[in-house]
Amino acid sequence: MHYLVYVSTARHLMNEAELMAILETSRARNTADHITGMLLYKDGSFMQVLEGRAEVIEKTYARIGKDPRHDGLILLRKGQTERRNFPGWSMGFRAVNAEDLAGIPGFAQIRNGRFTDPAIIDNPHIAITALKTFNA
Ligand SMILES: Cc1cc2nc3c(=O)[nH]c(=O)nc-3n(C[C@H](O)[C@H](O)[C@H](O)COP(=O)(O)O)c2cc1C
Repeated sequence: MHYLVYVSTARHLMNEAELMAILETSRARNTADHITGMLLYKDGSFMQVLEGRAEVIEKTYARIGKDPRHDGLILLRKGQTERRNFPGWSMGFRAVNAEDLAGIPGFAQIRNGRFTDPAIIDNPHIAITALKTFNA
């Protein structure tokens, strides 16, 4: 099983309807493509993990990267995993705030309030921990 984790910056602050629109498309496509994962949103930034067949994941990531709703994608990690970490989700989703993240090791170091903070980019395991924390 192939997986990848990236962070990105929303072109503008997203409202609930905009987030739900992203989620609806993602869940429909991912169900058809046997992709599972988790999307987190915080203060104009996204963090997402995708898992599935390598070719499908790479194609999907390329498509997501061209989406005008965000930019500045930074690939934090990709590789193989024995089995899915997010088996129950065609795409899990949480909009989180500082309070939600307070208990997660590493998040205290975040300065700009976004997932694109160097504290996360330089320590991708923090991102993985966060994604797994909200996988419930
Ligand atoms: C933050 C973010 C996450 C997204 N996640 C997914 C996803 O997991 N799967 C997916 O198929 N599309 C996802 N999309 C939507 C794609 O960018 C694209 O709009 C969608 O796949 C439809 O592509 P198409 O219009 O070329 O058919 C995401 C978009 C954004 C902005």
